[in-house]
Amino acid sequence: MADFLTDVQTLRDRARDGIMSGPVTTAYGTDVDRVIDLLNTALATELVCVLRYRQHHFAAKGLDSEPVADEFLEHSNEEQDHADQIANRIYQLGGEALMDPSKLLDRSHSEYVTSRDLTEMIRENLIAERVAIASYTEMINWIGSADPTTRRVLEKVLAKEEEHADDMLTFLEPEHS
Ligand SMILES: [Fe+2]
Ligand SMILES: [Fe+2]
Repeated sequence: MADFLTDVQTLRDRARDGIMSGPVTTAYGTDVDRVIDLLNTALATELVCVLRYRQHHFAAKGLDSEPVADEFLEHSNEEQDHADQIANRIYQLGGEALMDPSKLLDRSHSEYVTSRDLTEMIRENLIAERVAIASYTEMINWIGSADPTTRRVLEKVLAKEEEHADDMLTFLEPEHS
């Protein structure tokens, strides 16, 4: 056996002792409460993004801007999927997903900004995506190798936010404005 591994009897004993912690074992590499807090911040950010993109979808439809309106709706749905994955991870870690609407904006990293101008909407979404990208990158760096599953969830979400930012940038380029 490699000498950095815990002997099998100790592993079995610890697994049995901590059974009510579910998937969180003594091998968990960081403070689980801090990870849950971090995930609740990410959850609030995602839910604010769901609503902002949703509002922009209907506003853009009203401006007869179907391709952009369609993209806003797609993004809104993908942000909801991110929120669901994050909420799921919070419960796996023994936490509680916080969705009280009156507290979401305080906790969210992204803002809820609306506009009647299509270019302004696109710019606001691009800014929100850039905020999300920066904050997910910091979370991933902070987690390091301490919690590979949470890290993987956040890495998948980050990759999608980068696609979202790229989509918004494409709409801002000259041929679209
Ligand atoms: Fe997202
Ligand atoms: Fe996004």
